[in-house]
Amino acid sequence: MEAYLFDWANLLVRWLHVVVAIAWIGSSFYFVWLDCNLVTPSEKLREQGVDGDNWSVHGGGFYHALKYMVAPKGDAIDSKLHWFYWESYWTFISGFALFCIYYLWNASSFLVDKNVFDWSGTAAGVTAVAFLAGFWIIYDLICRVFGDRKRGDHIVAVLVLIVVAISCWAATHLFAGRAAFLIVGAMIATTMTLNVFFVIIPGQRKVVATMTSGQPYDPASLAIYGRHGKQRSVHNTYFTLPVIIAMISNHYGFLYAHAHSWLVLFAIMVAGALVRQYFVGRHAFHLGRGKNPLPFALVGIAVVAALVVWMKPAPIDPAAAASIPETVTYADLAPVLAQRCEICHGAAVQQKGLRFDSEAEVMKHAQNIYQQVVVTRQMPFSNATQMTDAERALVDRWYKGLD
Ligand code: HEC
Repeated sequence: MEAYLFDWANLLVRWLHVVVAIAWIGSSFYFVWLDCNLVTPSEKLREQGVDGDNWSVHGGGFYHALKYMVAPKGDAIDSKLHWFYWESYWTFISGFALFCIYYLWNASSFLVDKNVFDWSGTAAGVTAVAFLAGFWIIYDLICRVFGDRKRGDHIVAVLVLIVVAISCWAATHLFAGRAAFLIVGAMIATTMTLNVFFVIIPGQRKVVATMTSGQPYDPASLAIYGRHGKQRSVHNTYFTLPVIIAMISNHYGFLYAHAHSWLVLFAIMVAGALVRQYFVGRHAFHLGRGKNPLPFALVGIAVVAALVVWMKPAPIDPAAAASIPETVTYADLAPVLAQRCEICHGAAVQQKGLRFDSEAEVMKHAQNIYQQVVVTRQMPFSNATQMTDAERALVDRWYKGLD
């Protein structure tokens, strides 16, 4: 009963998490798009303090968005001012809840893989949370120290890349593969929300408070808040694709089970950021304000293509295959499955609802068994049952001999 309710909790929190994340990323992508597509406003609008405007059509009507870099002159905000932060906060709250009920609750089985690093679930759990907090502290420090310098954006980008690379390496050498990828993703995602919470929104609140205080103020003195907020929000946009790939990598064991999984994770996240750069840059390019960003996308695609080639699973060792009969029957296979799979896919436990203790079930899932055992070598999970290469070769020949 407990496990059943736990599954429900997991499902519902995950549903919430995906929905609020879509709302957050959706509005964030929209505002980046809007910013990139602002054009110089008419003389009349400029006199009112407008810095950019944009016309768009959607949902049966026309929208005319005006951007004031600092604040509208006079008391132009004469209706409700809309803020955008609950999407972000709820993404963090639901994501962290999911992390707790799934990974921290079961730390000794989900965070710890003794073949990677032999430590207690508690130590692993505390370290995982330290990754989330530690990345924010280091990233925030980098932005504060270097962000306002000449070429500050480039320095920050390089330093953040180095910290992410080190985190990928450390996480994959400490945690079970699946958890490692998730933790790196969660650590960047946490920083995205903390950017909203500690920098972007407080800055905007100060600007609004100054504007509405009734006291005279110098608009230039408020520009710093806009600049810092914009800087963090630009970082957030580059973080988006890397975070999403880290989250969905959980379904693709061939990524996190790879011998150099840290490099796989880092490279695919960099590819994501490059592709995002293309999407951000292409608006300015079409408006004649910037260079063609296509090379960014091409490099991103080349990185992914290189991964596809580099990660190609090694063929079964011929020496291991030598002792295997020419035709492998289910009767040859059954004892291997019983020994290597049954503890997780048998009468008592059925991971992913699968059991491999009857010919009918094995035949039904033959292709997936071949895929998991031979092609991607994701199963047995963390090779907990120490399946040998000769046994994988047996599965290989059995599958190829079918029909
Ligand atoms: C230590 C436990 C364990 C062992 C041993 C194990 N599995 Fe699994 N298996 C799992 C878990 C956990 C999942 C679900 C993984 C997930 O949700 O990504 C799974 C999922 C699968 C899947 C479904 C994968 C998918 O995503 O469609 C197949 C097929 C599979 N196992 C085959 C095998 C075979 C064949 C063996 C024996 C050679 C084996 N497993 C041994 C734990 C195990």
